[in-house]
Amino acid sequence: MRIYKSSRILTYNNNSGYKENGYKMTKRPSYIVSTSSKSFLPAKQTFSKHFYIFALQLINKNRMEHKIVFITGATSGIGEGCARKFASQGADLILNGRNIEKLNALKQELNAQGTDVLLLPFDVRNRQDMKQAIDSLEGKWKDIDILINNAGLVIGVDKEFEGSLDEWDVVIDTNIKGLLAMTRLIVPGMVKRGKGHIINIGSIAGDAAYPGGSVYCATKAAVKALSDGLRIDLVNTPLRVTNIKPGMVETNFTVVRYRGDKKRADNFYKGIRPLNGDDIAEVVFYATSAPAHVQIAEVLVMPTNQATGTINYRQPEK
Ligand SMILES: NC(=O)c1ccc[n+]([C@@H]2O[C@H](COP(=O)([O-])OP(=O)(O)OC[C@H]3O[C@@H](n4cnc5c(N)ncnc54)[C@H](OP(=O)(O)O)[C@@H]3O)[C@@H](O)[C@H]2O)c1
Repeated sequence: MRIYKSSRILTYNNNSGYKENGYKMTKRPSYIVSTSSKSFLPAKQTFSKHFYIFALQLINKNRMEHKIVFITGATSGIGEGCARKFASQGADLILNGRNIEKLNALKQELNAQGTDVLLLPFDVRNRQDMKQAIDSLEGKWKDIDILINNAGLVIGVDKEFEGSLDEWDVVIDTNIKGLLAMTRLIVPGMVKRGKGHIINIGSIAGDAAYPGGSVYCATKAAVKALSDGLRIDLVNTPLRVTNIKPGMVETNFTVVRYRGDKKRADNFYKGIRPLNGDDIAEVVFYATSAPAHVQIAEVLVMPTNQATGTINYRQPEK
């Protein structure tokens, strides 16, 4: 269900609740007086403004209609947010992750809304499984328009001279080698077809190292270099490459960082309003829906009360 109020667009859906201009609202907007669909109609909206917003929505939707979007790490956080956003804009989705139960649940939810979804569960660290899965694609699914290299993680906050080499292997193999292998397998088809967009989910961590993050920061600095390098290698093609660098986003990421300690993860966000997966999905969507001659190379996106990877403002506890 959707209403227009001035230049604001309010949408409601059973799973994600109220959203204003695509952004999740924490509570029911005060200007809704009743949940009956009639009361959702704008009171003082001029026809032309109403029509203009509707037309913009339609153009964006048509741009995305039946495009094939491949998202790695779609079972949670930013990847899951991207799946819902692109589904809402008419794209067909190939969703990857390791948690098959979560992938199935997401597929069911999106199918119910009319989105065509193909699941490709594999570990991005397993090059053989990845190749087998991608080689198995048939028909329209082979022609991937947008690749969102999102799967990634960090484990621990150890000092570089104290942490576990085995854990760091997992982080490096996922964040760098997994992303690189996906790129190597999917981009040749895009080049052949003369169209495609590669979105790499980097991080503010790739701009400067912070305490306890050296290996993760190094992997995200690598994502920046791989994105820049790919953009150079594709400069004579219509393909686009975007490195999206989020700051603080509340997802399962911090739970994994603290090795499953949910309480510690919750404390990490105390006193500050972090971004969520849907906020980043909006930025990803914005980059992919820009006109074909516009390449958004890099986006750094943070909560309003964050200034750098280490500097943020937190409301004191009352
Ligand atoms: N949250 C933040 O503050 C933040 C900030 C900057 C950048 N990022 C980046 O954003 C990306 C998404 O993270 P998130 O915040 O959405 O975290 P999240 O909620 O923990 O989601 C991570 C996703 O990656 C998948 N994944 C992890 N290892 C995988 C593997 N080996 N193979 C396939 N899928 C794998 C997970 O799925 P399965 O467990 O099902 O495999 C999950 O769907 C990551 O690259 C992260 O570095 C996050």
